[in-house]
Amino acid sequence: MCYFVQGPLVLIAGIIFILGLLYQGIQFFKLTKKKEWGVPPSSLEIKPQKQTKKQWVREALRTLNGTLWKTDPVLTIVTSVFHVCLIIAPLFLLGHNILLDQSWGLSLFSLPESVSNFLTLLVLICGLYFLGRRLFMARVRAISTVYDYLVLLIAVVPFLTGFLAYQQWLNYQTVILLHILSGELMLITIPFTKLGHMLFFFLYRFFIGSEYSFVRGSRTW
Ligand code: HEM
Ligand code: HEM
Repeated sequence: MCYFVQGPLVLIAGIIFILGLLYQGIQFFKLTKKKEWGVPPSSLEIKPQKQTKKQWVREALRTLNGTLWKTDPVLTIVTSVFHVCLIIAPLFLLGHNILLDQSWGLSLFSLPESVSNFLTLLVLICGLYFLGRRLFMARVRAISTVYDYLVLLIAVVPFLTGFLAYQQWLNYQTVILLHILSGELMLITIPFTKLGHMLFFFLYRFFIGSEYSFVRGSRTW
């Protein structure tokens, strides 16, 4: 059991993560079609205006500013810190890179352990903030379901168990096994749950035109 979780299941989880995201990406393009802009009467022909890079960045910032920042600046800061640390901490973690090096002979740059530990702590604090909002803010609680709590749990438990393993506060063998299992669960569930927003965020904002998109959008459902 321990061998399976620490060996083959890591690979299986990684493959499901990559193939799952690929499948969802392909489904997105299959289920949407290229927008037809219609043919304007030749006398009134309007040339589509090409945005410059500067205009595009300004428009994207305006969209972001208009959506989250204006409604809840604290949440904007918390979610930004949460997501940056969530990606950076595991990717540039010494423990992970040593394992990668041992099994595949490749590794990324590693941050000092104290920095990774701090980033992990930030993820946990932001996770607590999200939980607190769902539990104590009436308007957020009203739209929260068990599914939302479960997804938050799946995202945060690898950081909690990774943190506990690093600190060696509890039985290391048990904690690291739980850590690997929870990490695998996270990788496997990302493509098939709300966590898939890691891909869909970009697909929706760059391909489907709406009030929240960064571009005019070239596809429609
Ligand atoms: C899937 C297989 C995984 C394996 C085999 C694995 C293995 C490890 C190992 C060996 C450590 C070092 C513990 C120590 O210092 O003694 C660690 C720490 C850590 N892992 Fe993972 N991990 C996995 C997945 C994940 C995932 C998916 C995440 C989060 C996205 C994650 C986040 C972390 C963090 C944040 C720490 C460091 C905690 C700290 O320094 O405070 N791990 N992991
Ligand atoms: C890499 C690109 C990603 C982008 C652009 C992104 C973007 C977003 C946005 C816009 C939200 C909604 C705003 C909010 O409530 O904070 C959100 C929420 C969330 N994201 Fe991500 N995300 C990404 C990756 C991930 C990953 C990899 C995970 C974990 C596996 C994750 C976990 C979460 C969670 C748990 C929430 C909801 C927090 C709550 O309970 O309110 N995100 N993300």
